[in-house]
Amino acid sequence: MSHSKAKTMFRELLLWECLFLLVVSVSCTPPADPVQCSTKDSNCTVTNSYGMFPDRAICRAGNVAYPKTEQELVSVVSAATETKRKMKVVTQFSHSIPKLVCPDGQDGLLISTKYLNRVVKTDKAAMTMTVESGVTLRQLINEAAKVGLALPYAPYWWGLTIGGLLGTGAHGSSLWGKGSSVHDHVVEMRIVSPAGADEGKAKVTVLNETDKDLDAAKVSLGVLGVISQVTFKLEPMFKRSITYVTKDDKDLGDEAVTFGKLHEFADILWYPSQRKAVYRLDDRVSTNTSGNGLYDFTPFRSTPSLVLALTRSTEETQESLRDANGKCLNAKVIVSTLQTAAYGLTNNGLIFTGYPVIGFHNRLQSSGTCLDSPEDSLITACAWDSRIKGEFFHQTTFSISLSVVKSFIGDVQKLVAVEPRSLCGLELYNGILMRYVKASTAYLGKQEDAIDFDISYYRSKDPAAPRLYQDILEEIEQMALFKYGALPHWGKNRNVAFDGVIQKYKNNKEFLKVKNKYDPLGLFSSEWTDQILGLRNGVTVLKEGCALEGLCVCSEDVHCAPAKGYLCRPGKTFRHARVCTRAN
Ligand SMILES: Cc1cc2nc3c(=O)[nH]c(=O)nc-3n(C[C@H](O)[C@H](O)[C@H](O)COP(=O)(O)OP(=O)(O)OC[C@H]3O[C@@H](n4cnc5c(N)ncnc54)[C@H](O)[C@@H]3O)c2cc1C
Ligand SMILES: *[C@@H]1O[C@H](CO)[C@@H](O)[C@H](O)[C@H]1NC(C)=O
Ligand SMILES: *[C@@H]1O[C@H](CO)[C@@H](O)[C@H](O)[C@H]1NC(C)=O
Ligand SMILES: *[C@@H]1O[C@H](CO)[C@@H](O)[C@H](O)[C@H]1NC(C)=O
Repeated sequence: MSHSKAKTMFRELLLWECLFLLVVSVSCTPPADPVQCSTKDSNCTVTNSYGMFPDRAICRAGNVAYPKTEQELVSVVSAATETKRKMKVVTQFSHSIPKLVCPDGQDGLLISTKYLNRVVKTDKAAMTMTVESGVTLRQLINEAAKVGLALPYAPYWWGLTIGGLLGTGAHGSSLWGKGSSVHDHVVEMRIVSPAGADEGKAKVTVLNETDKDLDAAKVSLGVLGVISQVTFKLEPMFKRSITYVTKDDKDLGDEAVTFGKLHEFADILWYPSQRKAVYRLDDRVSTNTSGNGLYDFTPFRSTPSLVLALTRSTEETQESLRDANGKCLNAKVIVSTLQTAAYGLTNNGLIFTGYPVIGFHNRLQSSGTCLDSPEDSLITACAWDSRIKGEFFHQTTFSISLSVVKSFIGDVQKLVAVEPRSLCGLELYNGILMRYVKASTAYLGKQEDAIDFDISYYRSKDPAAPRLYQDILEEIEQMALFKYGALPHWGKNRNVAFDGVIQKYKNNKEFLKVKNKYDPLGLFSSEWTDQILGLRNGVTVLKEGCALEGLCVCSEDVHCAPAKGYLCRPGKTFRHARVCTRAN
């Protein structure tokens, strides 16, 4: 497409969008069910909320069960164990990117937690709350707030379920107290796993903090069985005060190391090509401080499908024209728009009048209003909804120990110095989100205090299409994982991030022992979980173009896109990296 044609299209779409917004009062659409069956509850396919796994596989299952109580859950697991069927838990939305939800073969059983969605018990005096595992983060936050309690740290997106976020070690940002990982606030868990005939082929185990098995169960990748209920230790409700401060990123390496110790809910948004960093100064304040702030993160609001289509088309055009300047310009507009809108913060639930934004924790900790609405119109949706033309991206998310993070940040800055426009593409996705995570007792949890880097970037619908500055993005990924020993987020990332990952966990053997104890036949395991747990090869897939999708680190040109001029070459600052570079 030519430039002028693209511009005309852009203007036309903009016009349509405005007309649309005038006519349509905003209604939105809940995400699609990740499980689709050809006959009632059988002959099914399962996917994630993006509608696509890293290897683009289509996963099948024989059928899906919807237990409503722990008893029903036990009988479902018992019947499947009897016939040695493979099982996997599927949640209402299935937000994880990797293929964690796929049972092996064609005839596995999906156990949905969609109707295991009740609060079981609240103990105000003990400050604990027990919920079924299909309860969403949003529900937990709201129900706790009703009795004056708060989960201190949580992911920023409330559409996750308790079972799913524990399964993948999800977190918010904090180095204080027990840290930002939700699993480090679990005090008890009930788990349903396969058993012998003497125990009726399925059993419920109750684990509390005195039991070492909890260190395996609280981040389990779903391979121990089904988490039925979870009890959290909460805190009395409190208020927070948030101020965003923008600075240039020259001293980010030094700042990042100390900033997390200064503010309880600190995080940093990094726009490396703009050479800016936005620091979130976020602390507890006395409950009598006035303010009723609300966080409704703009990118998690429902967005008109037309706007999403327009944005995607623009990005596709920029990719095909290799228009780095265009991306940098758009990134500046997007970032400054977000900043002006305080990222979706308001001082009173309606408008933003200035920092600090002060309010109750439950109104500020997490958001996701694009999930709302009973309608099925697709006029508006979550930006990544796969049923419409919208965002489609890779997500590379890893944590790097605080002891070496300064050096990593410096390395990324060196790459930007060589290729100043190379990271505008990820700034279109609001830059790199840096969050603090603390060392955990969970066997598959964080090994050291660290900063988690969250990076999203363009993915083509065509697996054979290289992306703009493919080489720089790959170099950052490989530098983090191989030079700095970063730990990938279990619920995000491309396959390469998991190559040899289990060796990075000092208690990996303990984890495998517990797995064998709870599920000796591996009925809850799959090819993918065996691969990431080091029980089987194959995380990386060598084939034509494999490096473009992060299925491999290239070792030959054919793993890139030689016909399009992308060849396998060493990195620019990390010479051990092998990346797909566009030959001049
Ligand atoms: C918009 C968005 C924002 C996000 N923000 C954050 C963030 O701020 N911080 C963060 O850390 N992560 C974040 N994530 C990633 C997210 O934490 C993980 O993808 C999370 O695992 C998804 O939870 P889910 O309920 O969708 O679980 P799923 O993806 O459906 O399941 C994850 C795994 O857990 C297993 N599982 C689920 N329930 C159970 C159960 N009851 N018993 C046993 N196994 C079970 C599943 O089988 C699967 O293996 C975000 C994701 C999205 C899409
Ligand atoms: C199962 O579903 C697929 C489509 O997903 C269909 O082609 C096939 O015929 C179905 N099989 C049965 C037995 O219903
Ligand atoms: C923890 O579990 C053990 C048995 O498994 C039990 O004896 C103990 O009372 C429990 N502790 C708490 C605090 O519930
Ligand atoms: C808030 O309460 C504390 C005591 O709990 C008191 O010292 C302080 O003056 C109060 N502040 C305001 C603004 O009312």
